[in-house]
Amino acid sequence: MRKTLPWLVGLLVVLGGIGWLAYDKLFRRDFPVYASDAEYFKYGSIGNDSENGVPYLVWRVLPTVFPDLFPGPGGYASLGFYWEKGRSEADAPVGFSKARIGFERMAINCAFCHNTITRSALGAEPVAYPTGPSNLTDVQAYQRFLSACASDPRFTPEVLLPEIEKVAPLSFIDRALYRFLLIPATRQALLDQKAVFAWSFTRPVWHAGRIDPFNPVKFDMLKLPDDGTIGNSDMMAVWGLDARNAIRPDAPLHWDGLNTSIREVVISSALGDGGRASAPNFFDSMNRIERYLRSSRAPASPYEAAPVLVEQGAAVFAAECAECHAKDGAKTLTVVPLAEVGTDRHRTDMWTIAARDAYNNYNQGYDFGFKSFQKVEGYLAEPLDGLWLTGPYLHNGSVPTVADLLEPAAARPKAFVRGITVLDSEKIGFVAPACVPGAKLDEGYCYDTSEAGNSPEGHEYGTSLPPADKAALIAYLKTL
Ligand code: HEC
Ligand code: HEC
Repeated sequence: MRKTLPWLVGLLVVLGGIGWLAYDKLFRRDFPVYASDAEYFKYGSIGNDSENGVPYLVWRVLPTVFPDLFPGPGGYASLGFYWEKGRSEADAPVGFSKARIGFERMAINCAFCHNTITRSALGAEPVAYPTGPSNLTDVQAYQRFLSACASDPRFTPEVLLPEIEKVAPLSFIDRALYRFLLIPATRQALLDQKAVFAWSFTRPVWHAGRIDPFNPVKFDMLKLPDDGTIGNSDMMAVWGLDARNAIRPDAPLHWDGLNTSIREVVISSALGDGGRASAPNFFDSMNRIERYLRSSRAPASPYEAAPVLVEQGAAVFAAECAECHAKDGAKTLTVVPLAEVGTDRHRTDMWTIAARDAYNNYNQGYDFGFKSFQKVEGYLAEPLDGLWLTGPYLHNGSVPTVADLLEPAAARPKAFVRGITVLDSEKIGFVAPACVPGAKLDEGYCYDTSEAGNSPEGHEYGTSLPPADKAALIAYLKTL
């Protein structure tokens, strides 16, 4: 007994040491503190770090090891990632949380898809507007880049570790951790993700500024069968949610108004991005983001227009548009039936009754008490605040400028460049020259309206107005 005691103590010390080390290297939490909700929105975690986070050091060296797998030159910038001035390569770009759970992880957050980048002219400094729709982020290209890396024979500790050590020399233990655990596990997780998104190869490419928002959730999280639908739609602005509810309590959200509760939309958005109620920061994070989106405002328009023209335009708006877009419009923030608005039907068809029911009953791991998902065939008529920043227009982003939207559908551009961040102060929207589908461009990509889900049809309101009325209306819309 006398002799075994020291052994036992020794063993316990060793096991305790291993336990502590495992805790420290794999589970210890160290989240940056953000003083303002605005900073939190850009860089805070949404509780998806464990589910979707990529080890930071691996993420950091992927552009060095796999520059050829990006869609263009510039590494992550070619996927639309945006670093604010003064932040270095070692910092997260807008839309990523960099937090430590054992090791540092990079995980996307809401600002990944809700942050508009603009320039006043070619060569001008970019300006970012968090809560606006992301016009550069290419979510699908990012996913496919990660899968391509994981499928590549270069994704090995032998290739990655020397690059990692150039960024951050590792201790003996950390090197072993990366070699035997993190690099192989990351590779496997990315390959698993590739399999989960296999269905997306049977659909049109999303491209920058667009995603299919709910099919990934339907087929993976809600376990519904692939129904062949195409949901490709534009990112949305998420500002001023309280102001919307002041117009209409329980105002529907999303392009087709598929849910009437801000709380449920915030939480379901996080779940779709890998957020989990089991993450200790989940509900704090949701509260903070919800508070921020409720009180945020659409950025004021930078445009000026002659006051007389604006006044004339306001009268045209009152006659032609107010019913659906003015604060006191009878149909504002209601879902206008598809048969009436006549825009591309794919997005509304993607949201099915089965999806509505599955989401309302979703309680995997936690009962969120969802009850506000609804199915209405049509699209939501929204107030037009911040219109200058939200181009291209309609739910599928199929019409480059407001001036084009005031032309009959048949006369709207057939193919145009999306992803140029230069604002068009005349037509409202972004500069969008005509292009040939498939052509490789220096900036942006060629949006082809003949692809399924991309039709610019419908919403012919105001298209038969005389040119002078259209000019006045545009002058008024510039002030929103
Ligand atoms: C991967 C991209 C992506 C991420 C990340 C993302 N969203 Fe969104 N969000 C979208 C898209 C796209 C839509 C419009 C989808 C649709 O209805 O077709 C949208 C719609 C919304 C809307 C509805 C806005 C309105 O005016 O009706 C809200 C609110 C919202 N998102 C909040 C969030 C929050 C909160 C987060 C983070 C927890 C988040 N989103 C993360 C892409 C994203
Ligand atoms: C009967 C209702 C109705 C009327 C009238 C109407 N709209 Fe709309 N508007 C909608 C709906 C519904 C949508 C969403 C359609 C979609 O995304 O497919 C929309 C979308 C828009 C958008 C795109 C918003 C965005 O974020 O992409 C603009 C711009 C717009 N309308 C301007 C106008 C103007 C200008 C007028 C008057 C000339 C007008 N609308 C008249 C119902 C209406």
